[in-house]
Amino acid sequence: MNLKISNICCIGAGYVGGPTMAVVAKNCPNLTIEVVDLSKKKINDWNNIDISKIPVFEPGLAEIIKEVRGKNLFFSDKIQESIEKADIIFISVNTPTKQKGVGAGKASDLKYIENCARTVARYSKGHTIVVEKSTIPVRTAEVIKKILESNNAIDNEDKKTFSILSNPEFLAEGSAINDLQNPDRILIGGEENEAKETLAKIYSQWVEPNKIIFTNLWSSELSKLTANAFLAQRISSINSISAVCEITGANIDEVAKAVGTDNRIGNKFLKTGPGFGGSCFKKDLLNLIYLCEHFGLEKVAEYWESVLKINDWQKERIRKLMVEKLFGSITNKKIAVLGFSFKANTNDTRESPSIEIVRSLLEEGANIYINDPKVSEKKITQDLYFEFIKEVDDLNKYFINEGSNYWTYSKDLEIVFKNCDAILILTEWEEYKKIDWGKTYKLMRKPAWVFDTRGVINQEDISKTNFNTWIVGKSILEN
Ligand code: NAD
Ligand code: UDX
Repeated sequence: MNLKISNICCIGAGYVGGPTMAVVAKNCPNLTIEVVDLSKKKINDWNNIDISKIPVFEPGLAEIIKEVRGKNLFFSDKIQESIEKADIIFISVNTPTKQKGVGAGKASDLKYIENCARTVARYSKGHTIVVEKSTIPVRTAEVIKKILESNNAIDNEDKKTFSILSNPEFLAEGSAINDLQNPDRILIGGEENEAKETLAKIYSQWVEPNKIIFTNLWSSELSKLTANAFLAQRISSINSISAVCEITGANIDEVAKAVGTDNRIGNKFLKTGPGFGGSCFKKDLLNLIYLCEHFGLEKVAEYWESVLKINDWQKERIRKLMVEKLFGSITNKKIAVLGFSFKANTNDTRESPSIEIVRSLLEEGANIYINDPKVSEKKITQDLYFEFIKEVDDLNKYFINEGSNYWTYSKDLEIVFKNCDAILILTEWEEYKKIDWGKTYKLMRKPAWVFDTRGVINQEDISKTNFNTWIVGKSILEN
């Protein structure tokens, strides 16, 4: 078995594939890496000479792409050719929640993974290490293995062999480059030591050896789901306590600090907010819940389901509170929404709490003005109305047929604030921390409200104005 590695192929040029391979390329100049995708548009965008147009916004990413693109990192739509020459193939495609059929609404849709396995079975040559980078249900490696081996049996002339490894990705968006460059751990699950060592050798070019953890395949797959479930659980825990703080006069920041200084608990991931978003937490929790139900572990499934219930409840209580404070009706009232991405420092809006909250405010008849430093008007339109329509052409058709929308996008905060009744902060972008509240108050209709779901406003500054304020996890101030 020859496990010498020179060529890497990564299938999937998304939020994981692009940044991860950029960091591998930077640290391993001796390797040639191709990132391939079915979407020609995405590949063209990754190859755009104007670096600000690459499809993923991540602090530090553009600089690395500039350094390695065209040297040892390539973005290509020639999937077959890339697989043919690869010694290692990372599968980094999306694994969304299934929308139809058995397990709909909970189970992972593995069609993209299955497609990849079939394509790899068809075009790979010699021995190939196949790495699951995507987050997947436990025992998916078995599916991949079966597809690879059964297709190989047909094609006996050119005998191919495979090693299958699980190497889940733990990066968080907005800090992906730092997370990839300085990971807490690298997890490698598999049955063949030689393949595991080969993958570890790549990471060891920049990661300390004691951070590389080896497990069996199933532990690795389950660890990823469990890590996300634990993180999501912490957010639901702190969000549930934020509501208790608001009623009792306790302050969530003080409680989080007091609790988090206990070494056993730790101080990270204790920031209350509008509920967790992002493409992973909900999907991976649903995946875990489905797995538990499948194995008859109803009580375990219910336990993890409660994490999702609190997350929905947090969004719902914010909407109800706004309506109540704005005299029971927000029909025709102008509301400024600050932030649409699911967290700061990313242009990703998948499962963003903003989507549901804005939709519910629109349903109540509010006139919404939205600002976000990185999310485009087109993306917001797709998220609010047409999750299933991806092309601008289709959107244009919709607007011609159905009339115009009743929300407005603006990059100019003065336009957003002018004559508005309430400001709702949904993402913790730096620019929102610097708002001049005295000046803003003058622009607004009175009584003026700020609803801060991220706890970012400068309380000292705002207390000098006549704003009414609700800050998550803190007492309401009404003038
Ligand atoms: P993404 O949607 O941004 O990218 C996936 C890409 O795969 C898409 O561009 C799609 O066109 C491409 N693709 C799908 N099927 C293909 C095929 N057969 N051949 C070639 N290309 C194909 O998804 P993502 O956010 O990068 O997530 C990828 C995986 O990593 C998921 O399983 C996710 O759960 C996991 N993950 C994501 C994050 C994150 O922060 N986004 C972090 C850790 C793990
Ligand atoms: C998450 C995991 O952190 C990462 O390890 C995994 O690989 C992918 O899923 P991501 O979703 O990109 O990463 O971002 P994360 O920082 O975890 O935030 C997820 C959501 O939780 C965001 O909406 C964020 O605003 C929210 N959050 C996070 C809080 O409300 N409070 C916190 O203290 C932390």
